[in-house]
Amino acid sequence: MTKVLVATEKPFAKVAVDGIKKIVEDAGFTLALLEKYTDPNDLVKAIADADALIVRSDKVTKEVVDAGKNLKIVVRAGAGYDNLDLAACTAKGVVAMNTPGQNSNAVAELAIGMMIYMARNQFQAGTGTELKGKKLGIHAYGNVGKIVACYGKGFGMDVYAFDPFVAKEVIEKDGVKVVESIEKLYSTCDYVSLHIPATEKTKKSIGYELLSKMPKGAALINTARKEVIDEEGLKKAFAERADLKYSTDIMADCHAELVEKFPGRVFATPKKMGAQTVEANINAGLAAAHQIVGYIKNGDKKFQVNK
Ligand code: 3PG
Repeated sequence: MTKVLVATEKPFAKVAVDGIKKIVEDAGFTLALLEKYTDPNDLVKAIADADALIVRSDKVTKEVVDAGKNLKIVVRAGAGYDNLDLAACTAKGVVAMNTPGQNSNAVAELAIGMMIYMARNQFQAGTGTELKGKKLGIHAYGNVGKIVACYGKGFGMDVYAFDPFVAKEVIEKDGVKVVESIEKLYSTCDYVSLHIPATEKTKKSIGYELLSKMPKGAALINTARKEVIDEEGLKKAFAERADLKYSTDIMADCHAELVEKFPGRVFATPKKMGAQTVEANINAGLAAAHQIVGYIKNGDKKFQVNK
């Protein structure tokens, strides 16, 4: 019988797991759960007899893929698939997919929450500022960026975006101003919300050059990936500019040093939590289960990312 393994170091809400189970069992498949594991070898062992795998940010390495003797499909229940070894999947004929858009609203809401939190001095005493009238820069106008732009407008912000992969007209139709260069986005905006994926090109791409261009009192909001930040560059810009702020839900490797050197200007959640809502868990988890059933029963490869 086809076995679907859900391996989530950071588990889905129970209601989402129940929903996944129902979809899988209605299709005549069985479900296995590996939650809150801390040793990557647990995944290597659990994948041994699975036909399909659902993960979140869990690392699907070559070792995991090779250990999945019956493995046919891996679905990353979420947007970014930098945690999947796509070459290893392709080499073994395993289809890799993501579930684009399914958790975007949760991430977008957190990005806005972080802007307010930083604008109000991390909810400490003292006089804060308002988002209204400030310039918001959306760095990459994908599923999340588009929603952040919409919510920013709701707060009365003046919204700008930079995304060379999205047509100008598409962005402008949302009442968002397109800037032609990344430098222009950072030099213009009081808040920049990052929504770029972590790729060989984008890793360490946000550093001193861009941060030091930001207007006085600006804040960088990172709900994307920690890898896109050049941490040395960030430290240098923050040492030179006592007004800059940084908030993220993916803690920098040098987070302790940042907090010590730049008190009140850096905030990070203890765990990545942008997509950690019941709604996002249901949307992404159930989509992943449907995609597995669709592929195994009908060969549907709509969301394949290793083409
Ligand atoms: C994504 O890429 O979908 C988000 O970063 C969410 O990741 P998570 O499923 O680990 O919370």
